[in-house]
Amino acid sequence: MGLPFNIFDIGSKTKSYLGVDIGTLSIKIVELSNENGRPKLENYATLTNYGLTSENKRTFGGQASQMLQRLIKESGTKASEVNMSVPIFSSFLTVMELPRMSEAEITNAIQFEAKKYVPVPLESVVVDWSLIGEEAGKILVVLVAIPKDLINEYTAIARDAGLKLLSIELETVSAVRALIGNDPVPTILMDMGSRDTTISLVDGGHLRISHSIETSGEDLTRALASGLNISWRRAEEIKKETGLKVMNENSQMVGIITPLLDSIVNSTQNIVDNNLSKMKKKIEKLMIYGGASKMPGFAEYLSSRLKIDVVTGNPFNKIIYPEKLKPIIDEIGHEFTVAAGLALKEFQ
Ligand SMILES: Nc1ncnc2c1ncn2[C@@H]1O[C@H](COP(=O)(O)OP(=O)(O)OP(=O)(O)O)[C@@H](O)[C@H]1O
Ligand SMILES: [Mg+2]
Repeated sequence: MGLPFNIFDIGSKTKSYLGVDIGTLSIKIVELSNENGRPKLENYATLTNYGLTSENKRTFGGQASQMLQRLIKESGTKASEVNMSVPIFSSFLTVMELPRMSEAEITNAIQFEAKKYVPVPLESVVVDWSLIGEEAGKILVVLVAIPKDLINEYTAIARDAGLKLLSIELETVSAVRALIGNDPVPTILMDMGSRDTTISLVDGGHLRISHSIETSGEDLTRALASGLNISWRRAEEIKKETGLKVMNENSQMVGIITPLLDSIVNSTQNIVDNNLSKMKKKIEKLMIYGGASKMPGFAEYLSSRLKIDVVTGNPFNKIIYPEKLKPIIDEIGHEFTVAAGLALKEFQ
């Protein structure tokens, strides 16, 4: 259990909203209330279950429900309404191109066209879409499909925790809301978690590409444990304390970690190159978030390999919170990107 934090008066009567991010090893929640139309941080908390690993994550369903109930109880969260997210590996996102047509015609065309783009039977998913706009005489639409099974599972998790589920969305969509908003600058978002790393392209405030790569924070720990012949716990510690910030660049640690980061670097480079040739736009920055993105030296490594500005995302930028929390938010705020983005949905 970490960081249950009831920041303001427990007796607060204002309506608040909860964002719940169910990750592979942990659940994170952010509760926001409305202060004259602006989001105000009421509470945030995380609960990690180290007993879960990527291999047995299929059992997470049952445990997620219990973990969320415990997290809500112990953190003193008051909200009764919640937004939840699903990861990209279990869902589907594409940008569809349609000929010029009216909005009413677009709705019809999407029903028909979605079949060609979504690789599973349409009856098994819920399809959502939003208009990007017109480019080179074509109408661009972002299409997201989320499996109904997953929606049912999450609805049950919310219900068991006594919460009303308002919506479910792709976790990258939540991250875009929290970190990018309406900023039109083409940006890469990178979420490095315990199961995988998700790399996404956002342009004009719209999500264009999002896909995940197997390399994860957990992989780094395992590689260090076996490469240095140390325990998992010790490897986890030195990953967080030292990471790539070693005195000698030829150190054994760098030799173990950097090859694992190659697939992340290569995938990102591909997105940058494709974007430049297709859209003739330079991607100006890379924003990283998720627990493992905080590894010492990781941002610098990405920046030097990709020749791009790398910044750690702060999802609390547009949220009111007490000044005394600034140091902790600067340190761990990025881990709450998805949960904050979900709660922020009610302030759009
Ligand atoms: N300061 C740090 N330095 C390096 N790694 C860290 C640090 N803090 C957390 N991590 C790593 O981050 C990972 C957990 O990240 P996160 O909490 O974002 O994952 P998750 O949301 O549970 O998983 P996923 O998003 O992959 O389903 C773990 O591998 C952990 O070791
Ligand atoms: Mg995550």
